[in-house]
Amino acid sequence: MLEHFDRLDPAERIIVALDCDRARALDLADTLSGHARWLKIGMTLFYALGPSIVNELKSAGFKIFLDLKFHDIPHQVHGAARSAAQAGADMLTMHAVGGTKMMEEAIRGAEEAAGDFGCETPVMLAITVLTSMDQKALEATNVVLPVADQVRSLAKLAQNAGASGVVASPQEAKMLRELLGPDAYIVTPGVRPAGSAVGDQSRIATPAQAISNGASHLVIGRPITQADDPCRAFLSIVDEVAGASTDW
Ligand code: C5P
Repeated sequence: MLEHFDRLDPAERIIVALDCDRARALDLADTLSGHARWLKIGMTLFYALGPSIVNELKSAGFKIFLDLKFHDIPHQVHGAARSAAQAGADMLTMHAVGGTKMMEEAIRGAEEAAGDFGCETPVMLAITVLTSMDQKALEATNVVLPVADQVRSLAKLAQNAGASGVVASPQEAKMLRELLGPDAYIVTPGVRPAGSAVGDQSRIATPAQAISNGASHLVIGRPITQADDPCRAFLSIVDEVAGASTDW
């Protein structure tokens, strides 16, 4: 199980979330250069700075997870994914509730950009149920399924539409690994090394637990970006991932 991801260098499985301004992002990139491989840019940074920030960080040698969570009509999402891939994104997100056609068009847009602009085709991840939504919040949108069933159902819909995998909480990772099989990307935020500040996260797991639960990649922000020594914090997580058991 998970041979494909287990064969990766552990540093390849950690995505550092840059939830900060441009100056700090570039400073962190400089500090982590030569160690970290992936950086995550979210809507706040991207809407402020646009494709130029992707370009700057790509030029510094990083792969970019551009977390823009597409959700619109298929035609618009096709264009969005094409533009994001052209900008240099290596991993993108889309909401599975947008439906099969929307996800197919997002994937098609990203593939088109790869053909037209010679970039790599980005990994296309689906968002199932936002972890900020609990059962009550879901019911208020007239979804009557238990949260876990809705997550499963949307994850399968995304896989059938051609998505590479999902973003999920470490608690959902095991169930999703069983459902989606060994090749699916399961990218989990909500990760906290033992002893680090929890902040506003609630259902957390350590890096080793998340990997053992079936995560392919971990998204980790503040435990690295707000550490006194971000590089040392990153490398200690690499060690933990390298030592995690995945023999479940
Ligand atoms: O600083 P921290 O490690 O909590 O950052 C986690 C990152 O993952 C943030 O960029 C946050 O927006 C993102 N994220 C999350 N929980 C989700 C989805 C994304 O924390 N369910």
